[in-house]
Amino acid sequence: MAPRLRLAAPLLLVSVALLLTVVASDDDDGGGDYAHCEGVVKGWAGSVADEEEDNDGGDTLSLRDLLFFLHIPRTGGRTYFHCFLKKLYTNAEECPRSYDKLRFDPSHPDCKLVVSHDDYSFMSKLPSERTSVVTILRNPVDRVFSTYEFSVEVAARFLVHPNLTSAKLMTSRLLTKSRAVSTLDIWPWKYLVPWMREDLFARRDARRIAKVRSSHRINAYDVEDMVMPLHQYIDDPVAHEIIHNGATFQITGLTNNSYFNGAHEVRHCVRKHPDLGRFVLEVAKSRLDRMLYVGLTEDHEESARLFAHMVGAQVLFQSGAANLDIKEDQPIGNDSHSSTLDPEDEETNEHLNSTRGLQNNRALSADTTKDDHPKGNMTVGKLMEAYEGCISKLRKSQSNRRKVSLKMVEEANFSKEARRQVPEAILEQIISLNNLDMELYEHAKKIFTQEHLMLNAQHSMPDTKGWIETVCSSWSCSPWKVTLLGLGVTISIVLIALALTTRRRTFKLKV
Ligand SMILES: *[C@@H]1O[C@H](CO)[C@@H](O)[C@H](O)[C@H]1NC(C)=O
Ligand SMILES: *[C@@H]1O[C@H](CO)[C@@H](O)[C@H](O)[C@H]1NC(C)=O
Ligand SMILES: *[C@@H]1O[C@H](CO)[C@@H](O)[C@H](O)[C@H]1NC(C)=O
Ligand SMILES: *[C@@H]1O[C@H](CO)[C@@H](O)[C@H](O)[C@H]1NC(C)=O
Ligand SMILES: *[C@@H]1O[C@H](CO)[C@@H](O)[C@H](O)[C@H]1NC(C)=O
Ligand SMILES: *[C@@H]1O[C@H](CO)[C@@H](O)[C@H](O)[C@H]1NC(C)=O
Repeated sequence: MAPRLRLAAPLLLVSVALLLTVVASDDDDGGGDYAHCEGVVKGWAGSVADEEEDNDGGDTLSLRDLLFFLHIPRTGGRTYFHCFLKKLYTNAEECPRSYDKLRFDPSHPDCKLVVSHDDYSFMSKLPSERTSVVTILRNPVDRVFSTYEFSVEVAARFLVHPNLTSAKLMTSRLLTKSRAVSTLDIWPWKYLVPWMREDLFARRDARRIAKVRSSHRINAYDVEDMVMPLHQYIDDPVAHEIIHNGATFQITGLTNNSYFNGAHEVRHCVRKHPDLGRFVLEVAKSRLDRMLYVGLTEDHEESARLFAHMVGAQVLFQSGAANLDIKEDQPIGNDSHSSTLDPEDEETNEHLNSTRGLQNNRALSADTTKDDHPKGNMTVGKLMEAYEGCISKLRKSQSNRRKVSLKMVEEANFSKEARRQVPEAILEQIISLNNLDMELYEHAKKIFTQEHLMLNAQHSMPDTKGWIETVCSSWSCSPWKVTLLGLGVTISIVLIALALTTRRRTFKLKV
């Protein structure tokens, strides 16, 4: 048998080597795979650009028939939904089940508003040439923190159950019975919460067995014996799949939840070859540029004011229910709620099956104008007033809910102060994992500044009302034509003034 063995050994070696090459080349970073991925990503970017060119209705600043609020998780979008959109649109105008992908039916005839965590690929289900898109962006580091906190908060609610089996069972019974949409039905929470929940129960079981609790506690984001620490959370494959660069992927329609079949390949290629991210980023930026409105979570007061004027005013104007009130609103004053950690809490408010999302939360809707005619005598000024009242109530109830939810994991005492104790290295890791979102956020800030300037130009026009009436009696008017015209006139005045002063000054100054 010896000669045979001697022959077989090299053969075996060769085949093992061959196998290894095949395996290696499969996830090899160089050569073939990169070229393939580059083709995939560029091909996608090209087809998106073509599509949008065909589809470009030109005027992106006018509100179209349908408003799609692309709600990036943890950006405070719920506040806008409850405190603005609910006041501007009747329940009948809100597309049913906006937050529920499975049962969503956009063919609803009169529906004018869609609010969803679905990514941009959802536009393929909508009449895209008649749809305006709005969104809100947030500093990516804060968004990751907030995602972590919310995952823990929602998962911790289940700890009232004796074990995981019982928690799952009770939840599914409850949901079947009430037919409510829960946070657990909605992307990305349908992945993030069960993952965290399983982890919380496992840690609790481990504590019970060990019977000792380590007093080792660095900060609220690192209480290992109670909750999956932040550093572990952000490095998990689930976080890589769903959280990091989430805003960019959502705006480009490339999330794990996409309606576009090719999304997964493009996303995986970008994750594997980070420099291909630039193509995705370009698409994301140009999408933002075309949106009717882009808000910033951080600049919540100014975002609200812009939203009221850019979106609210047009909704009211189109509904014909109001005379356009473009007077400067009362100053909003200081944000007395800035001490609360997050502007957002519940993602769904546990919608009942009817579209009346606030039905089981009457306290919140107490200050809304009558549900069936939210527009009534609404003006932009009144809208802002109502928003202020609404937001403070909403936040109070959210922070109470958070307190109750986190009772079972007291050590995970999240706060702005606690965030400051998180090691710099972890923050840097988050920044690097979210490099696309960081850059997109910078771009959003630029857009925001432009929006702000436009609005101020509109307000700075003397005798606004009379001037608008004059213009509007001769042309068909939209608030945006007015704004742009106002901006044009203002810029002309500034330029002329500038030209005059510089000319005068050149005699005295060296420029
Ligand atoms: C979970 O808890 C329920 C209710 O107390 C109990 O009936 C069940 O046996 C428990 N299951 C496990 C696997 O411990
Ligand atoms: C999305 O991500 C989750 C969590 O990683 C995973 O379980 C799920 O299969 C993914 N879905 C798709 C379509 O890739
Ligand atoms: C807002 O609060 C800060 C500090 O609390 C204060 O300095 C500032 O004057 C306040 N601004 C307004 C408009 O009340
Ligand atoms: C909502 O649920 C109730 C029963 O709970 C059912 O009678 C009703 O038809 C449902 N409405 C919709 C719009 O699904
Ligand atoms: C709205 O206007 C109508 C008539 O224009 C008036 O009767 C009604 O009282 C007003 N409602 C509110 C809430 O101001
Ligand atoms: C949580 O933190 C807040 C402020 O940082 C503090 O007032 C509170 O006592 C803390 N609670 C627990 C249980 O550590």
